[in-house]
Amino acid sequence: MIGLFDSGIGGLTVVRALRAARPELSYVYLGDTARTPYGPKSPETIRRYSEEAVDFLKAKGAKAIIIACNTASSLAADHLRATYPELPIFDVVGPAVRMAARVSAKKNIGLIATRATVASGVYERRLKEIDSAIEIVARPAPLLVSLVEEGWIDQPETETIVGKYLAPIREADVDALILGCTHYPILKDAIARAMGEGVKLVDSAEAVVAEFCATLERDAALAASLAKDGRASYFTTDPTPAFSELGARWLGAEIVVSHATLSA
Ligand code: DGL
Repeated sequence: MIGLFDSGIGGLTVVRALRAARPELSYVYLGDTARTPYGPKSPETIRRYSEEAVDFLKAKGAKAIIIACNTASSLAADHLRATYPELPIFDVVGPAVRMAARVSAKKNIGLIATRATVASGVYERRLKEIDSAIEIVARPAPLLVSLVEEGWIDQPETETIVGKYLAPIREADVDALILGCTHYPILKDAIARAMGEGVKLVDSAEAVVAEFCATLERDAALAASLAKDGRASYFTTDPTPAFSELGARWLGAEIVVSHATLSA
């Protein structure tokens, strides 16, 4: 099956896109809710947590990994590929960057992400590799992760915080905004309202699923290695009612969440 992980609930945006595209594929999801958020943590810690997540998913039978977290993708993807050369590992950054470069006519792109992702400079680097003329305005928006984990999606306070984070990006006259954290698509409506018309939102969750599915079309061996009985299992390192409730709301179906213990 496919293994996906995130620091918490945000990776369910990737799960939702995957279920919409290929409902027959089986997967196991891990949300490291006991240690969320990853965004304020050091690169070393993020790499260690990511490795523990992959060990857990491998033990559950994962034959391919989708890093359903921008922070882990930015800081740990290369490390994970070197550590598990036998596992195909997909990260969200590359697909989001390629999609943003495609949709931005002005070559002026905004990015909101966690502090660790912004500080890594990975998005800027990858966008400049595609086209050195691209300008990027990047801002960390760390509170959005807590708001989503708390289930504060429609509250007026959320609208205010989103507006405040996005003000400098709106002023920079971008025509595309990368949602560089998999938690953020859950706040897509508020983000779209704050950015106004004419700004395309690039959802890293949808971008990675589109590239993953395209890879399956090309890679028959990988496609054959994946179970196709639509089984889904969900684990968190600290099961909370908020995860199950928001997960069910977001995915449109009840989910059963089991407790995962990660070993260092
Ligand atoms: N969903 C995450 C991301 O894509 C993690 C956010 C966090 O834990 O700070 O970056």
